[in-house]
Amino acid sequence: MKKFTICASSTYDVITGHDIVKDAGAYIREVLEPCRLCIITDSTVNSMYSQVLLTSLIESGFQTSKIVFPPGEHSKNLSTYTNILEALADEGITRSDAIIALGGGSVGDIAGFAAATYMRGIRYIQIPTTYEAAVDAAYGGETGLNLMSGKNLVGAFWQPSLVLCDYGYFDTLPEERLKDGAAEAMKFAVIAESSLADHILAKDYPYVVERCISIKKSLIETDERCYGLRQILGFGHTIGQAVEKLSAYGLPHGHAVAIGMVAESKAAFRTGLTGVDISGELADIFARLGFDTRCCYPVDEIYNLAVMDKKIFGDKISVVVPERFGKCSLHRISISALKEYIREGLK
Ligand SMILES: NC(=O)c1ccc[n+]([C@@H]2O[C@H](COP(=O)([O-])OP(=O)(O)OC[C@H]3O[C@@H](n4cnc5c(N)ncnc54)[C@H](O)[C@@H]3O)[C@@H](O)[C@H]2O)c1
Repeated sequence: MKKFTICASSTYDVITGHDIVKDAGAYIREVLEPCRLCIITDSTVNSMYSQVLLTSLIESGFQTSKIVFPPGEHSKNLSTYTNILEALADEGITRSDAIIALGGGSVGDIAGFAAATYMRGIRYIQIPTTYEAAVDAAYGGETGLNLMSGKNLVGAFWQPSLVLCDYGYFDTLPEERLKDGAAEAMKFAVIAESSLADHILAKDYPYVVERCISIKKSLIETDERCYGLRQILGFGHTIGQAVEKLSAYGLPHGHAVAIGMVAESKAAFRTGLTGVDISGELADIFARLGFDTRCCYPVDEIYNLAVMDKKIFGDKISVVVPERFGKCSLHRISISALKEYIREGLK
């Protein structure tokens, strides 16, 4: 078991290890007094994992309830959000109670946003069950959901009270979901630590998760609300999230971001923002991970979605520029130059 303490607007622990969720109740008792805990999860994770968690919570003196919705990105919308809020109210959840987000990034994002907004904000705990959520989504407090117009367009910064990351959940993840986590972890290799790439390829999950937590922890602590350096975590996402939406979420988040990372690296080089082109090396690594990173969508359609990016401030957008493999910096470019930037990235 390892513990990472994140000091942001609130201070909380991220606990990692094997088989820790059977003791979830005891860990949670260290941060919450006895109260009602409402587990929010999707139907796949519910059938596999909610019973062990419920047993542990009840043994530790918590009252429990559960809200379940269909799995996947398609559920991360206003309709699911409304249903969650109504169910929380029906259950009589109060401000002294808390939510547990049990699942991947889609579950964590929407359950976290429900926690941020129900009764003007209640506490919540993240229990990530995917590699993707364990390396990135489960901590840092970026909660939200998708609108018809684009991805993650509604949300709030709302930090969890605790994150419990149990590697045992990875045992049942299909290969495709493990690949998505690997793609998101590659983002950390490019922005901060090139040697991580070998560990990602070697499927050294605990090492990778723990390095990603350490890297993200320092970004959260420096720039919790993502006005500055934390935007570097958006590497690959300006193009990647547009591609994800254009695929009608048929392309998983990790794969879309892999396409975005290769394209944005190439764009940065071809527009002269950096003297190094890491796009080839990155595409090779993604190929070894099983991804085709070619992009089949037109520049205009990507641009129309990219202009909704949350890294836009006024008439400028922050782009993440690799200075070398393992170090990136932020540059501001004009929105009027963004279409050309995307075009160069897709060449
Ligand atoms: N908030 C953030 O900082 C942040 C960061 C990165 C990604 N995200 C978001 O995360 C989402 C993608 O994450 P994801 O892929 O984890 O999403 P997900 O929650 O949609 O999970 C993917 C699938 O895996 C299944 N699953 C979950 N755990 C399982 C397990 N242990 N065994 C078998 N199946 C399991 C789910 O039922 C679902 O079908 C995107 O919406 C993305 O925008 C958020």
